[in-house]
Amino acid sequence: MSNWDKGSYEVTAEQIAPATPAVADAVEPVTGKLALDLACGTGNEALELARRGARVTGYDGAPRLLQVAGERAAAEGLELERVQGDLAELPFDDDSFEIVTSVFGLIFTGSPQDSAAEIGRVLRPQGRIAFTSWVEEGLFQYMQDMAKAAVASHFGQAPPEGADAPFAWGDEVAVRELFSESGLMLQVETRELVIEEESAAALNDRWFDLHPIWITMQEVIGDEAYEEMRREALPVVESHNEASDGSFRNTLRYLLFEGSPV
Ligand SMILES: C[S@@+](CC[C@H](N)C(=O)[O-])C[C@H]1O[C@@H](n2cnc3c(N)ncnc32)[C@H](O)[C@@H]1O
Repeated sequence: MSNWDKGSYEVTAEQIAPATPAVADAVEPVTGKLALDLACGTGNEALELARRGARVTGYDGAPRLLQVAGERAAAEGLELERVQGDLAELPFDDDSFEIVTSVFGLIFTGSPQDSAAEIGRVLRPQGRIAFTSWVEEGLFQYMQDMAKAAVASHFGQAPPEGADAPFAWGDEVAVRELFSESGLMLQVETRELVIEEESAAALNDRWFDLHPIWITMQEVIGDEAYEEMRREALPVVESHNEASDGSFRNTLRYLLFEGSPV
């Protein structure tokens, strides 16, 4: 499991921030409501909800990121309750929240079934939920596949027989089914998010130098294999470049799920 406190997740948080208002819009009206932002990281969504007048709890496994979220809230004069814990087990009473959100966070749970059941438990009957996941295509998918292949090749083996395949968060039917088992009815829309950098090489280096998932992998596979992976990734990043002026731009598609208890 990755240590999200390592490196600087802040850089990626800035890149995915454009998804934040769409998630808040999906759970409006939020003013005065009790909201839980799951896997809040540095607080993008939690702060957006607080700015709109919700009473927000940010929940995450990474203490440093929670501290950053707290500092950002204080700088804006916003109240933000922060709780550290795992997505598979929420330390909140039944029916504690009127709103639950997660921006590219819930997708990292080690147990999608437990997390969905926990959300169904803490969300009030009239509550609203909205969260995002990546469509399984494009640059992010390639990078993820590459990371998995590197780890498998490092250990010289495929995942142990009988091991569960990772849950398909990019498969809207599977996600809706998962939540319907916990009493939540979801709708889904496909949205787009554009990431920009000064160049493809700069983006590649930012990921390899700063992203917690990549840095954790470097520790697993060693420096030599890591640098080889960085070199292999660059032409692929370049091949996804939509800009023609030497800078980098790529349009990523994601799923925005929203819904309520049945
Ligand atoms: C891609 S980041 C998204 C953060 C934030 N929602 C945002 O929009 O920037 C994923 C977040 O999930 C958190 N996370 C990953 N696995 C977790 C787990 N099992 N329990 C709690 N938090 C977890 C990480 O600490 C990180 O903050």
